[in-house]
Amino acid sequence: MSSERPAALLETSGASASSDPRLLPALRILTCGSVDDGKSTLIGRMLYENRLIFEDQLSALARDSQKHGTVGDDIDYALLLDGLEAEREQGITIDVAYRYFSTPKRSFIVADTPGHEQYTRNMATGASNADVAVILVDARKGLLRQTFRHSIIVSLLGIRHVILAVNKMDLVGFDRAVFEDITSKFAAFAKPLGYKTITPIPISARFGDNLSSKSGRTPWFDGSDMLGTLESMNIGSERDTLPFRFPVQWVNRPHLDFRGFCGTIASGTIRPNDEIAVARSGRSSRVERIVTMDGDLDVARSGDAVTLTLADELDIARGDVLAAPKDRPQVADQFGARIIWMSSDPLLPGRSYLMKAGAQIVPCSVTELKHRVDVSTLAEHAAKTLSLNEVGFCNLATSTPIAFDPYADNRDTGAFILIDRFTNETAAAGMISFALRRAANIHHQDITITKSERAQIKHQTPAILWFTGLSGAGKSTIANMVETRLHALGAHTVLLDGDNVRHGLNKDLGFTDADRVENIRRIGEVAKLMTEAGLIVLCSFISPFRAERRMLREMAPGEFIEIFVDTPLDVCVARDPKGLYKRALAGQIKNFTGVDQPYEAPERPDIRLLTAQESADVSAQRVIDELRTRKLL
Ligand code: ADX
Repeated sequence: MSSERPAALLETSGASASSDPRLLPALRILTCGSVDDGKSTLIGRMLYENRLIFEDQLSALARDSQKHGTVGDDIDYALLLDGLEAEREQGITIDVAYRYFSTPKRSFIVADTPGHEQYTRNMATGASNADVAVILVDARKGLLRQTFRHSIIVSLLGIRHVILAVNKMDLVGFDRAVFEDITSKFAAFAKPLGYKTITPIPISARFGDNLSSKSGRTPWFDGSDMLGTLESMNIGSERDTLPFRFPVQWVNRPHLDFRGFCGTIASGTIRPNDEIAVARSGRSSRVERIVTMDGDLDVARSGDAVTLTLADELDIARGDVLAAPKDRPQVADQFGARIIWMSSDPLLPGRSYLMKAGAQIVPCSVTELKHRVDVSTLAEHAAKTLSLNEVGFCNLATSTPIAFDPYADNRDTGAFILIDRFTNETAAAGMISFALRRAANIHHQDITITKSERAQIKHQTPAILWFTGLSGAGKSTIANMVETRLHALGAHTVLLDGDNVRHGLNKDLGFTDADRVENIRRIGEVAKLMTEAGLIVLCSFISPFRAERRMLREMAPGEFIEIFVDTPLDVCVARDPKGLYKRALAGQIKNFTGVDQPYEAPERPDIRLLTAQESADVSAQRVIDELRTRKLL
């Protein structure tokens, strides 16, 4: 196997290793340490000593070492790992690099992640699959804040086996007392972290002590060397022993006689004739064939990418999870979960993100942030939001139930990511702890009288007329005029206005981003209830964020009419009906929309009112006309 393969092969490499029965499954290793702890050197030297790199790589390395190296005329083994040119130029590792190597006994996948404070995000990415973490400590410096941080993140991510590599032993004269002091302090610190094994090894990555062979300079050390330890760790097969989980990536139906479900087995094993159940629907069947490019299999195990055909025609779609019928995943739409925030935009509870769990993708929001975790001390702090690289525990709600296992039971089916719906970037990585019991105990109640029956008595069609725009744009004035006209026409209406609602229902909310999101979420729920009563609901709120207005549209499909009261900021400032702009511009009011907080104008509003060019009267009439055109009146 080459020492360098694209990361995309990561998912299937477990399968190729396990096809040789003599080998233990591939071991996934996460290395973590501070910038100068020498972790790149450690792996680089192990590869070199075992002749696991190619000659052309070696000559390139010698050349590069002279250009960038930090160890004089010697070969700088760290350069073997620091693949990217940009990283070399900065002298640091800035992203996750996956490396593959194998010895006659075993193959390894190494995720090398940077040690800086701000890169929790990268570490989480590298750790998501790892079986064991190699935590590097500089023998001269001992345990640092970074060591605690890495150890805690490793534990939060569910890694249960740790190798404590005490590096640079050459610089402390291979002093046994230094090594033992560090290892005993680490053991005490790690007690609450739930590791199953901690294996300390005294090493010198630069000179190779205790890497691929036992060093003569640590006669007092009776453990095995690094490579021997890694080769014999029997933990890679844990996934095979878990209950069967198969997230369906897509349904393959090339012709009427074939219907196969494609995906990668997340855990467990499967054979033809085995019973399976569809997690969400509860329907069950038997596996008929396990189809692969190289022919049908008699058995498939975790990590194998296969197509399953079933004995019965079941309704199964992308995102469904096929599972062992006697040991099924849970199905729920509310969870408690730990999340690591990965976006430079902070977490906003109440905002709608997309949750991707396995092949399931559903709208999801954080309903409550319980606390933030200090990853250097494990202390829990009250928090309203999470910023980049912060870790917290929260409650989440999905719009439809998903199938999952608690992360502690299964790291594949218990993990998820949150995706920002506008930028498509990964906003968070999460680990589900449990389903909220309240979700399981609350059911939808059937009500006899329907919304349309209520509306019929009023001879009208319920709708939400949502006025958005800057403070002073004229929203309240125009909304008031529209309601007056609707009322005169005999329509049953209600008007919700920002200033008024903030005196009652929302008097606990201020004007931070998080509070504005919650303000709009609550108003949306209230407006929806009022449409249930058959009403035409007028809402006048700045509602500065696109994400929440989009959420409103999804909450009330076909009923939400977005009316952009489009008044330029300078006009609003000149009008300044409440004198608020004057105070905001003087710095006396913080978080003021348009001044020091953004307003995200609608891109495709249903109605756009240009109040700088037409009177409020004309604007109001245009809304009425549009409602007529839409046959709402
Ligand atoms: S929203 O952004 O959450 O939709 P909302 O419409 O409820 O705001 O409230 C806006 C009203 O609160 C404004 O019309 C103004 O009178 C008042 N207000 C007080 N402080 C602020 C502020 N910092 N930013 C905007 N409006 C404010």
